[in-house]
Amino acid sequence: MVRIHVGQPISRARIHQPIPPLETTMIFWQTLSPVSRIIQSNEWRPDSWRRKTAAQQPVYPDQSALDDALRQLHQLPPLVSSWEVESLKQQLAEAALGRRFLLQGGDCSETFADCASGVIASKLKILLQMSLVLVQGGCQRVIRVGRFGGQYAKPRSSDTETRDGVTLPVYRGDLVNRMAFHPDERRPDPELLLRGYERAGLTINFIRALVDGGFADLHHPEYWALPFGRKSPLAGEYLRMVNSITESLRFAEALTGRTLPEMDRVDFFSSREGLHLCNEEAVTHQVPRREGWYNLSTHYPWIGNRTRQLEGAHVEYFRGICNPIAVKLGLPISPAEVVALCQTLNPANEPGRLSLITRLGEAGVAGELPGIVQAVRQGGHKVLWVCDPMHANTEMTRSGLKTRRFEKVLAELEATFQILGENGAHLGGVHFELTGENVTECIGGACGLTEDDLSRDYRSPVDPRLNYEQSLEMALRLAKLLAKQNA
Ligand code: PEP
Ligand code: CO
Repeated sequence: MVRIHVGQPISRARIHQPIPPLETTMIFWQTLSPVSRIIQSNEWRPDSWRRKTAAQQPVYPDQSALDDALRQLHQLPPLVSSWEVESLKQQLAEAALGRRFLLQGGDCSETFADCASGVIASKLKILLQMSLVLVQGGCQRVIRVGRFGGQYAKPRSSDTETRDGVTLPVYRGDLVNRMAFHPDERRPDPELLLRGYERAGLTINFIRALVDGGFADLHHPEYWALPFGRKSPLAGEYLRMVNSITESLRFAEALTGRTLPEMDRVDFFSSREGLHLCNEEAVTHQVPRREGWYNLSTHYPWIGNRTRQLEGAHVEYFRGICNPIAVKLGLPISPAEVVALCQTLNPANEPGRLSLITRLGEAGVAGELPGIVQAVRQGGHKVLWVCDPMHANTEMTRSGLKTRRFEKVLAELEATFQILGENGAHLGGVHFELTGENVTECIGGACGLTEDDLSRDYRSPVDPRLNYEQSLEMALRLAKLLAKQNA
């Protein structure tokens, strides 16, 4: 049954080849691995999500312009390779076994204007600094994943916005429309899909060039210094940590007489929400000498909390791609729903394939997480547990700004570590909204930001991010929790 309702912005263009005739399918079938067979038997295709109800999709007024943009998008070269994607999956599988720890962070929403070298470099720097703190504190290898390089589409609570009696489509991120409150700016524009892909490519290319050129070399943490870092009250603690790592490295290298592998270069991966399904379909490809389909615009896409319906189009799309994937879990949610998501999204129980990102809130985590963990463990599902302590701890100030309290964010993290530990699991990663800039969007932390400080430099168009100092402080606190978990 086709359940596309009127007005749903579904492109009619067939970007991928038509379904092959039965005899070809049968020969192909015999060459497939068990995983691909499960998926094939449910007739998954990059466009099979179109049979389902798709939440959070924009309505494009010009269908043929959309089809044209999607065809162009499909022709463009990939932004990531299947080798990188598989290597990340392998690393995430190790994290699920407790041998690595995932650090995922970046903007709530990137903007095209912020596709600039300084902004990108400072996000990379803060993540590298945080990862160094975690490596040292947790004595564990860290997987670094940016929440950037294409994080341009946002789910919204309403399809429209009304100001002074005028109602327009809501701003859905730079991939879809423009922020200014004007009919021309808010009209979904398919050209933005191409601009977004290009900017994601520019961002990923710049990060690759920095990382490959030695920017992420653990021998040179001074490359990652941020201009205001020195003035931070945490600078002393961070520098002591850096010195101790540099000394240990020198010592080990003097002993072995060679540079330690992996220390002069670290991997860096990209991630974003997989929200806009026409876009996801157009960037889904097959590659030579590998089975299955890959989303080759990002390494590690996730399903947002608002689009994780078991029978919905997002779960349908995600179940068929070979990338490692994640799903956000927010309230209300039942243990049975989580188990059903595990079965659908990872039917072969492939290690590293599925991460569960809980975002239950400081107030909700103690009541809800134990039942979820127990059900997933009883079902024997191999998952990586990740905590996003940001999204269920958002509040409005009296003056109408969205903010988050550092202490609540930390409290959800602490509770998540504890509950997972008590239920025979462990926390394998964290997911933050943060920036390397000195913004004033979240309250609290050692820098003592108060509600009155927020208006000084509030820049996020959507959710509030931890600033540089708050991020570094969070890493220092997290490192202690990680050390306890690994003791
Ligand atoms: C987000 O990650 O910005 C987001 C919208 O989160 P969630 O899907 O968890 O609400
Ligand atoms: Co957000």
